[in-house]
Amino acid sequence: MDTKRLTSRDVAAAAGVISAGGLLGIPTETVYGLGANGLDEKAVHAIFDAKGRPQDNPLILHVSDAGWLERYCADIPAVAYELACRFWPGPLTMILPRKRIVPDTVTAGLDTVGMRCPDCAVTRQVIAAADVPIAAPSGNASGRPSPTTAAAMLEDMDGKIDAILDDGPCRVGVESTILDLTVTPPRLLRPGGVTLEALEEVLGDVAVDEAIRRLMAPGEQPKAPGMKYRHYAPKAPVTVVKGDPDMTAGYIVARMGEKSGVICFDEFKGYFRGHPVEAIGPAADQAQQARRIFEALRAFDHLDVTDIWAQSPTDTGLGLAVTNRLNKAAGFHIIELS
Ligand code: TXA
Ligand code: MG
Repeated sequence: MDTKRLTSRDVAAAAGVISAGGLLGIPTETVYGLGANGLDEKAVHAIFDAKGRPQDNPLILHVSDAGWLERYCADIPAVAYELACRFWPGPLTMILPRKRIVPDTVTAGLDTVGMRCPDCAVTRQVIAAADVPIAAPSGNASGRPSPTTAAAMLEDMDGKIDAILDDGPCRVGVESTILDLTVTPPRLLRPGGVTLEALEEVLGDVAVDEAIRRLMAPGEQPKAPGMKYRHYAPKAPVTVVKGDPDMTAGYIVARMGEKSGVICFDEFKGYFRGHPVEAIGPAADQAQQARRIFEALRAFDHLDVTDIWAQSPTDTGLGLAVTNRLNKAAGFHIIELS
């Protein structure tokens, strides 16, 4: 099929794709998503086909405001509205008990559903115009890094979706934070654009799912099914080096091979002359690192590298999300310098 290119002036056409049961690339503040009518089983099925996504991995429903929660969720705790008031529209997905109206294909048979209101006006306008929630995973082919531009999404999806709405590069660059509100204390299932520290300010105690910081053992089940898959991975193997940036840069220079690529902070670019280098921003600029990380991982697939070394950001604030994506891309192959 021919994938139509739409812009923010084409809200009606974009909503038309959703209403007709088609597939639409949607911009959000985090990453581009692969959207369809979240109440239409057949349309949702097509999302899994286009991505090559395992059927046991549930999708997030995107809504245009917190008033929509009651349509799709049951037993909504007061704290969900408090969080929506503070963080929506924005990069927070809340896991809540679902109502029967939400199809099994969306939730992969779970009795909960992930709800998110994206901070992207044009996408909220499309949702409101179609008057249905948009089910959307990240717009990459399954296993690849998430797309933070329309062009990156088209690398994976051109010809497989009806249209893509291009609203420029994503402002945040890593996916939404996923918080399970069906357990006490609430549990962080995936770090993302809303930091753990910001959630703790509202909630006090927040549990952190093990799958965020380490590789799951065979047979172990993380609470967010998607966290168990190899993910975000470029074709070449990645090694992450943790520690003081001066030390990690020195360590990598001493060990890298002739055809190694490097992901580093801007300050250290000069260390790796003659090698393919993706600088992800200054060591102290976590927002820039979040915006750059997926493009950096994608870039190496177009380059002739045998392996990739990466300087690890710190894991506080937004850094918890960036290091989680990088560690997953590396299959948790991490060297810790002390
Ligand atoms: O920022 C984002 O969240 C992007 C944009 C497009 O909104 N979407 C996104 O979707 O990252 P996806 O499908 O790539 O990741 C959703 C994650 C998966 O790991 C999935 O297993 C988990 O959320 N998830 C979805 N519904 C869930 C549920 N009911 N319970 C537990 N985990 C759930
Ligand atoms: Mg994804």
